[in-house]
Amino acid sequence: MRDPIQETNYMLNDLVNRKENLFPGKIIDYQQEENKFHFYTNTDVILFVQVLNPKIIRFRYAADGNFPPDFSYARDPDFTPELPLLEFIAHPDFFQLSTDQVVCLIQKEGMHIRILDKAGNTIMDDEKGYHWEYDLHTGNNIVKMSKWVQSGEHYYGLGDKSCNMNLRGRRLQNWSSDTYGYSRNSDPLYKNVPFYIGLHQKIAYGIFFDNTFRTYFDFAHERSNVTSFWAHGEEMNYYFIYGPSLIEVSEQYAFLTGRPEMPPLWALGYQQCKWSYYPEQTFKAIASGFRERQIPCDALYLDIDYMDGFRCFTWNKEYFPDPQRMIRELAADGFKTVIIIDPGIKIDKNYWIYQEGCAQDYFCRRSDGPFMKGSVWPGLCHFPDYTHPEVRDWWANLFKELITVDGVRGVWNDMNEPAVFEQGTFPDDVRFNYDGQPCSHRKAHNIYGMQMARATYQGVKKFCYPNRPLVITRSAFSGTQRFSATWTGDNVASWDHLWMANIQCQRLSISGMSFVGSDIGGFIETPTGELYIRWLQLGIFHPFCRTHSSGDHGDQEPWSFGEEYTQLAKKFIELRYQLLPYIYTAFWQHITYGTPMLRPLPFLNQDDTESYHRMAEFGLGDNLLICPITQPEVDGRWLYVPSGTWYYYWDDAEVVGGKEVWANAKLDRIPLYVRAGAVLPFYPVMQYVGEIEITQLTLHVYFVQGSVSSVLYEDAGDGYDYEKGICSEKIFLVTGSNTGLSISQEVKGSYAPIYTTYNIVLHGLPFVLKTVEVDGVLITPEPNPESAAETEQRENKLPEILVSKDFEQINIQGIIPESAEPDALINPE
Ligand code: GLC
Repeated sequence: MRDPIQETNYMLNDLVNRKENLFPGKIIDYQQEENKFHFYTNTDVILFVQVLNPKIIRFRYAADGNFPPDFSYARDPDFTPELPLLEFIAHPDFFQLSTDQVVCLIQKEGMHIRILDKAGNTIMDDEKGYHWEYDLHTGNNIVKMSKWVQSGEHYYGLGDKSCNMNLRGRRLQNWSSDTYGYSRNSDPLYKNVPFYIGLHQKIAYGIFFDNTFRTYFDFAHERSNVTSFWAHGEEMNYYFIYGPSLIEVSEQYAFLTGRPEMPPLWALGYQQCKWSYYPEQTFKAIASGFRERQIPCDALYLDIDYMDGFRCFTWNKEYFPDPQRMIRELAADGFKTVIIIDPGIKIDKNYWIYQEGCAQDYFCRRSDGPFMKGSVWPGLCHFPDYTHPEVRDWWANLFKELITVDGVRGVWNDMNEPAVFEQGTFPDDVRFNYDGQPCSHRKAHNIYGMQMARATYQGVKKFCYPNRPLVITRSAFSGTQRFSATWTGDNVASWDHLWMANIQCQRLSISGMSFVGSDIGGFIETPTGELYIRWLQLGIFHPFCRTHSSGDHGDQEPWSFGEEYTQLAKKFIELRYQLLPYIYTAFWQHITYGTPMLRPLPFLNQDDTESYHRMAEFGLGDNLLICPITQPEVDGRWLYVPSGTWYYYWDDAEVVGGKEVWANAKLDRIPLYVRAGAVLPFYPVMQYVGEIEITQLTLHVYFVQGSVSSVLYEDAGDGYDYEKGICSEKIFLVTGSNTGLSISQEVKGSYAPIYTTYNIVLHGLPFVLKTVEVDGVLITPEPNPESAAETEQRENKLPEILVSKDFEQINIQGIIPESAEPDALINPE
């Protein structure tokens, strides 16, 4: 009905009209400068296209004819664009830009983008393409992009989301949030990773939307044929990343947003945490609890109660009268002490950090002037503006005493979404420096945690030198992996959360963040012994392996659930320590090639469409397949084994993949498979990294028909000599047939380990040993007393060979046992 007042109210009508989508018009001009292009439309829109390498193309759009300064917290400053060979053709209706990997078509009308591979397959195709909406609430643009869903397209990525691995049909957002006790499908969570991977026709590509405002991603949720993403401010600025493999997309993304440095080896050991261990006697009793029971552990954590009234960088001297002595004593027993540091600085006139922060103007201010106040653990606080370089330097230097005097070895950053009690987070109008481009909380919110972790890393790295730092952060943005490990926040001791921990860690790993883990056993509430063990079985395969719990819900140490569970916990933590050289190698592959350490099933064989909806199974490194049990009272589970031959870790039963199999796994097993042809390096069990001198390395070699190569990376496990080349990469090539097996070793690099021998344990041989020749010399395999620890968990006795670590070539000849036909032995089915 006609409303005369509305009709004549020019203010209302104006606003209503502007709530429409606006579009770019038609390209009428362009400019090329090497690999950079500007396209101009008749409506003053500019599209900037930069080809960063043959697989990565960046697209930036300016709705109003002006680009803001080109700045990114996410992009790795060490990422160097190439000047790839390009072919550029201006057709009457479109432009064609080709690299040796992809062809990009830019339509003049509407600036639509379509990208094809060299075989002519459409990989990505704009629907509306770039458009925007004027946001009457903020006076900002909401910048949008929409693309057609391709036939059979699936979506992966986006960081820590707790929903199904495959994102098709969902709408998700990035706005880091303190989500205590979140659940399956809760969104948003703690981290912001505006990066996804599309997969269709067995071809994978990625989109990284480098925008720190609140972002949304809609994967065929609102309209079943359209995938779109948008942000509540700034510009449409995204990178297209061509695979064609899923792994390559993750790798390219990791190059773009950065990779971490090698962690200290101890940081891959088992870690124990609680909110909170205090006073000193309690903390030390936990340490003794590990050593008395001979359960390995490398790090113990102090949660907020170690501080004086939750004031950062102080000690509660009643609970911890002499932290320096305590940490030294723990260190003598192999424990590294890690402390929590939150961003909230207590408003307290007598507290020196508060005084300094005020005097130097280091806290975030409201838009109307005063420092912003928010309530967290210490009561009302101010919050450092970590987006100011000077504040980051100040913050970094605050760690000096904790590290160089007290002996702290790692720092855990929490509540940095930023979290504020009651309110959730800061008000939108709070101001930030944003490295010299002042802005509001709307733009800085999603990178606050990242910049805190960055400042912390800067300090911990500086003062831990010559040791390597460990930093852990709860909130993150794309690129945070350069500075910090992360965990999945305040989960619950439930089977459903164990399921989520598996999905979230895999998802973070393919989204650039491999150094991930969950609070083992659950943070909120108390697990049963069974749930704790099932969770630990998964946790030992996560790069960051830490039990953490909220203290008001009962004990959660590995021995808290009775003797039967204690022994199981010990067994699995020991397995973690045996696997350390393998996990360390996977870490090195991550920092060197960007390869995710945890690899969801479709990443193991994307040609197998059967795997696209699977999510429980994942690979760790190149040679292990894991599938946790996430239900109570079961003796095993069905799981999908990817193509190829695998061995069940616990009994060496051979499995030919590409199908579902049943894995027997009572509580003393987790479904765990080893790739045929793998060389799995094992350390002896140790109580902590550095406890014993490793005099012999065990190599578990798994028979294969054909050839498979495996890598072992080694360095000193701490310090920076590896950056000077004092490290080594060993490549083992295993080649097998019905009657023989050969193992060759090629060593690159100059790191010399202390051990001198390998104990080679042979798995899955279809023959008995006849002759073994090592570098041309025949040897007689003899029992090796040192190998007992590694093989005792197995149910069968296996042939072993003791060789020099410098061997180059081992040739094994076998005899087929008379009772068996070779085919029956190789494939028992
Ligand atoms: C937050 C953290 C949790 C920590 C607690 C007390 O809830 O996520 O890990 O124990 O704060 O610091």
